[in-house]
Formats: sequence, C-alpha cells, structure tokens
Amino acid sequence: MPQMNNEIKNEIKKRRTFAIISHPDAGKTTLTEKFLLYGGAINSAGSVKGKATSKHAVSDWMEIEKERGISVTSSVLQFNYDGYCINILDTPGHQDFSEDTYRTLMAADSAVMVIDASKGVEAQTRKLFKVCTMRHIPIFTFINKMDREAMDTFELLDDIEQELGIATCPVNWPIGSGKNFKGVYDRAEKEVELFSDTKKGTTQGEVRKVKFNDPEIAWLIEDSQRVQLEEEMELQDGAGAEFDQELVSRGELSPVFFGSALTNFGVETFLQHFLKMTSPPLPRIADKGEIDPMEEPDFSAFVFKIQGNMNKAHRDRIAFMRICSGEFEAGMEVYHMQGGRKVRLSQPQQMMASERKMIDKAYGGDIIGVFDPGIFSIGDTLTTSAERYAYEGIPTFAPEHFARVRQVDTMKRKQFIKGISQIAQEGAIQIFQEYNTGMEEIIVGVVGVLQFDVLKYRLENEYNVEIRMDSLPYEFIRWIENEDIDMAKLAGTSDMKKVKDLRGRPLLLFVNEWSIRMTQERNEGLALSEFGR
Ligand code: G4P
Repeated sequence: MPQMNNEIKNEIKKRRTFAIISHPDAGKTTLTEKFLLYGGAINSAGSVKGKATSKHAVSDWMEIEKERGISVTSSVLQFNYDGYCINILDTPGHQDFSEDTYRTLMAADSAVMVIDASKGVEAQTRKLFKVCTMRHIPIFTFINKMDREAMDTFELLDDIEQELGIATCPVNWPIGSGKNFKGVYDRAEKEVELFSDTKKGTTQGEVRKVKFNDPEIAWLIEDSQRVQLEEEMELQDGAGAEFDQELVSRGELSPVFFGSALTNFGVETFLQHFLKMTSPPLPRIADKGEIDPMEEPDFSAFVFKIQGNMNKAHRDRIAFMRICSGEFEAGMEVYHMQGGRKVRLSQPQQMMASERKMIDKAYGGDIIGVFDPGIFSIGDTLTTSAERYAYEGIPTFAPEHFARVRQVDTMKRKQFIKGISQIAQEGAIQIFQEYNTGMEEIIVGVVGVLQFDVLKYRLENEYNVEIRMDSLPYEFIRWIENEDIDMAKLAGTSDMKKVKDLRGRPLLLFVNEWSIRMTQERNEGLALSEFGR
C-alpha cells in the first residue's frame, strides 16, 4: 500500500471546511466578507459582492436571483488565517432550496448559522436550519447585529433550542444591545471584550479586553448593566448546558457567539474559537468502509453540486467536488466510478474573494470546481485509488409539489427536453415520466415551489423555451424497491400515478397517505421508499 506523504498530511490537517447558512439579510455576506478581511484575502470590506444590484430585491423571484447570484459567483471561498486554510461554502437562504443546502452540507465538516439578533430563528429558514441538524455535524451560531436593538438573550437561545432541537452553549454573552451595546462577556476568561466602532468595519479594529473584576469596569459599564450581567450569568450557569467538545463534535450542542459583523465586532473572536472547536477533514463513509484522509494516500472526491450555464455565452457546466483524501493536481486522470471509466479533470478552479482562479493543487478538505462535459451526477465518486470505491450517495429529498410541464411552441421540443434534462441533472428539480407515454408528458417534482419559478425562468432565459405548467394534486412520492416489479399489474387507487424517474426507476405518486396504505394492502410484498437513492 502506498505511504501517506507527510506534506500532504500537513496540508490536510490545516483545512477547515464549513458551510455558512442564514436567513436572507441576517448578515451572511457581511460576516463572510469580514472573515476574508481578517484572512487578508481582501483589502477592504465591500468587495465580496456588489450590493447595488442585490439591494433592489422586490419580489420573491428577485430574491432567488439574488441567491443564485451569490451561489454562482461565490459558491466556495478559500482563505488562510492563523495557519489554517479555510473553505467557506455558501448556501441559499430560502427554505425552498433546502435540498441544495443539504447537498452543500454534505461537503462541509461543520456549519455556521448566522442569526439576526432582533429576529431569532426566522420562519423561512426554520426548515433550512433543521436540515443542518440532519447531518449531525458541528453547528456554530453567530448572533449578529448586536449593534441594533436585540431580542432578550435567553429568548434567543430558547428559540434556537426549540426550533432545532439542539442544546446551546453561549461562549460569550452580550452586554446590552443597540445604543446600549457595551460588548460581550467571555464566560471562560471572565472578561469583557469592549464594543468599539470600527468605522463600519472597514478596518479590523482594536480588540480591547478588560477583566470583569478589574475596577476599571465600573467606569466602562454602568451599574445597572453590570448587575444585569451578573444576574444573567448566574441564571445561565445554573440552568444552561456546559461546554462539551464531544457534544459539539456530534452536532448536539451549538456554541453561540454574539457580535456585529458590520462593525467587525466579535468576528475575530468568533473565528479564533470556531477554528479550535471545529474539526479538520473527517473520515467519510464509502462502500468499502470508512476512508480516513489521514490514512488514505490516494486522491478521492465526490460531486455535491453541479452548476450549469455559469457563463451563458459558453454554456459551461461546472461540477463542484469535495476532495476527501489525497492531493489533486490540475489535469490529473482519475477513475469515475459511476461512469466506469477514467476521466481527466480539466480547468480546475477555486474561488478567491470575487474571482474565479485556476488552481494547480488542492488537498483533502478542499472544494474544487471542474469542467463537466455532461458526465457527472450529484453523488459521483472520483478516485486514483487502485482499489476502487464509491462514497455513500447523497439522498434526494422527496418532492412535495408536482406539475405537468410542456413547451408552448411545439417546434422547440428538442431545446425543451435538453434544458429540462440538464436542469434536472443539476439537481435543481426532479423529473418524472409517465408510463407508456414516451417523453410527451413530463412531470416535475420539487421540494419547494420557488424551484418551479427557477425552472421557468431558466428555461426561458438559458434555453429560450417558454413553458406551461399545470399543477398536479400529488403530495407524496414513493420509489418502488422491488427489483422485479410488473408496473402494468400493480393495482393501486384510481388517483395514483405510475411514473419513472430520470434513471428509469419506477415510482408512484399519491394524493394522500390513505392511498399509499391502500396500494400497499392491495399489493402484497410491495416495498416502497421515500428516498430515491
Ligand atoms: P445576507 O448575506 O445574510 O443576506 O446579509 P448581508 O450580509 O447582505 O446583510 C444584510 C444587511 O444587514 C446589510 O444592509 C448589512 O449591511 C446589514 N448588516 C450586516 N451585519 C450587520 C450588523 O452587524 N449590524 C447592522 N446594523 N447591520 C448589519 P443593507 O442595508 O442591505 O446593505 P448595505 O447597504 O448596508 O451594504
């Protein structure tokens, strides 16, 4: 067995790869930008994305556009800080794209959740945050905008615990908010990090810390606020969960930090703690067992995201992959497990602040995008290992909304099929075909209805095809797991529909759960599954 090269091992150990998730406007972009500022990747705040265009978001659709704008231009950002090499994965901020978020989380080793202190966990992001807990990776909470009037701290923590079902452990604690925001109290160090204005955060700002028992504190913080802090700490120490790295690593306890990304306050403190508490690239499950990046010398990676038409003029398609082990070199030949043949990975790129750049090398933990000539699917494994293996797949979420879709202009059938198939391959929607009708009727299934808007918009704008959508009453989908099923003989309820997916697997659409039960009763031995693996 080839030996693991120490240089590669050290590179991998330096990696920290996390996803950042938030409700739109909570401050994800601002926080990311400040991370880059501390990492020296940008010189001044304001260069990550042009706010001018995103500011005029008027409708839900514009909101998607904005989201798409973010994920297209800055899907992954890499920067160095304090000896670490950090990869940040951006996620869409709307619950209708929670499947996309789940796939991105598959590529991350931890997640940072940004919450607006005046709003707590917001309705639209509930589902999204919940998806985070499904992955059992460490979740870190940054409660942002403390320079504005905030909700009560206990209420905020309670909100997170109730919504996500995980315990919280505040690492620091805010002293006041809005005009009365004085800073945060570091519970372990028993000191106050004083809030300072950093000219809207264009400079890194000086961090000033004073021990809480230092007499100077009386000059810096009013009596009433000091008393309140003492009372709150007593309550929290008595009732709150204690910090436990083991629980954090299992995703059962979320360390919470308070700050204000806009003014740079608490950002570096958060980054420093976070980097110590999160983990380097973790072992991943493959069909032959666990693959540990510290032991596996060969390159291996899996595709978690496919983004088509990033550049309309070139119709290029980029497959984003998470490197799980070894070293990547530009132009290297790897074995594509699902395709069953060797491929050369060309035009590898990474994001650096607002630019895409070509790269020569990357290591386990990194995320790279490679040119995809249309051969990759989400979940595919690539490796240089002689002993071939495949990483466990990324499950597709069961769609909850269905529509029959057809092109308005019958002459555009070819473009329509091409466009809808490509968009489905990217995982932006799922498509199904009715039995015995050929490709005439296409049924689209989505997890969130905004995905329908994206489909319509993209078909019109990228493929020049206008479509008509008729919504269908189905709400439940079940894949048939029996290998030898005779679909013609399968007896279900009259309102059930028999369809097959992109890979030809048979499945059933139901309008209600009663119908599922009836079908199961009428067909002995029928094995139905909610997931299309
Ligand atoms: P997002 O990526 O999560 O959608 O949020 P983004 O960072 O774009 O921030 C949304 C708005 O909130 C921005 O204001 C941003 O300046 C502001 N913001 C972010 N962090 C803080 C904070 O700590 N305190 C305060 N007071 N505001 C914060 P905007 O008006 O939409 O844009 P801009 O014109 O200020 O750039």
